Amino acid sequence: MSRLRVAVVISGRGSNMLSLLDAMADPAFPAQPVLVAANLPDAGGLAAAAARGVPTACVDHRPFGADRTAFEQALSAEIEAAEADCVCLAGFMRKLTPWFVARWRDRALNIHPSLLPAFRGLDTHARALAAGVAVHGCTVHLLRDDLDDGPILGQAALAVRAGENADGLARRVLAIEHRLYPACLAAWACGARRVEGDRLTGAPIALFEG
Ligand code: GAR
Repeated sequence: MSRLRVAVVISGRGSNMLSLLDAMADPAFPAQPVLVAANLPDAGGLAAAAARGVPTACVDHRPFGADRTAFEQALSAEIEAAEADCVCLAGFMRKLTPWFVARWRDRALNIHPSLLPAFRGLDTHARALAAGVAVHGCTVHLLRDDLDDGPILGQAALAVRAGENADGLARRVLAIEHRLYPACLAAWACGARRVEGDRLTGAPIALFEG
């Protein structure tokens, strides 16, 4: 079995990245990690990935200033040098331009901490609580030009608890992110789910807490 070669791209602690590495440590998993890349040298996930023997790279976005495309070209060059087939954004906190989206079209996944299309952007948990939703969760989707938009590969949902605060809700959502992302990557990597245009073939993956 040939395993999809995956570059995971992070900005911070990388707990989703580690959940993907854990899943890919199984030789029967249809994908393997070839790179963990970050846009900040102090991203905690870089050391954690290196400790597991996964090649790492840092492309610091700051020297590029306002030239987002030049940063993305440098990041993409690292991903290409690792001969990755696919990019998993995992807590990558920079908006990507249409250049990167086109370069990795239908080969880049992202995880977002809300049930899209609700609550794109930041502070999703506080905004979900303020809106009084009963159900909240996370989404894995294909990357498209608009922020937190693109064909949905899978979603995981939980019931909001009475009196819950944003930190508690974030912790519970993160735990289901760690189940959802590997499940979506597995379905994607083995070809059980594909995109045609902007539609997923087959039903998106649905997980429920509990
Ligand atoms: C995760 O909750 C992820 O969904 C979110 O950042 C966190 C990263 O945590 N991503 C976004 O908000 C992207 N729009 P991690 O570094 O521990 O995986």
